[in-house]
Amino acid sequence: MPRHSGRRSEFVVAARECSTHHIVLIGMMGAGKSSVGRVLAERLGRPLFDSDQMIEERTGRTVREIWQADGEPAFRALETDVLAEAVADKHPSIIAAAGGVVLSDDNRRILAESDAHVVWLMADVDLLLDRVKNGIHRPLLDADPEGALRNMFDTRVTLYRDAADAIVSVDHRTINDVASAVLRCCA
Ligand code: S3P
Repeated sequence: MPRHSGRRSEFVVAARECSTHHIVLIGMMGAGKSSVGRVLAERLGRPLFDSDQMIEERTGRTVREIWQADGEPAFRALETDVLAEAVADKHPSIIAAAGGVVLSDDNRRILAESDAHVVWLMADVDLLLDRVKNGIHRPLLDADPEGALRNMFDTRVTLYRDAADAIVSVDHRTINDVASAVLRCCA
């Protein structure tokens, strides 16, 4: 049964024991997955697996280079590889999943079958727009950032919600506050 954690900006669907499970942050570009992930990793003394960073380290190329040279499907396949690898790690970690992670059936299955506590960092599109202006690793926003972001939100909102064990609003909150809210959603 879904429960509010006591504040309207947090919503728990199925709390998990975070001390023994991975915490996976999902959400749109600009929601703060990497920044909040860094704070959580620091606070809990755990490794951080950041999807885009893992892909760039593994391939020696930037997200944009992969996207432009090999196309989106090749990038998405790498996204699946690093998600599966991060979730399979036996030590509890923080995983900052890439924004598009919920698009693939495989990724959704990996998340659903894992014991990870999946938290959707939910943000208003206007806030996201303001934050993503300078992100060079976001080729999807090259042509029409606002239109693309709004379409993306509409397409993905149900996917994020369905994948999430907890939902945390990031609007009007600092990174530290969001990290605290994520931890309050644990069992
Ligand atoms: C994407 C999000 C980006 C990056 C790529 C595609 C997406 O990562 O993986 O540009 O489809 O939402 P962030 O969510 O870290 O910005």
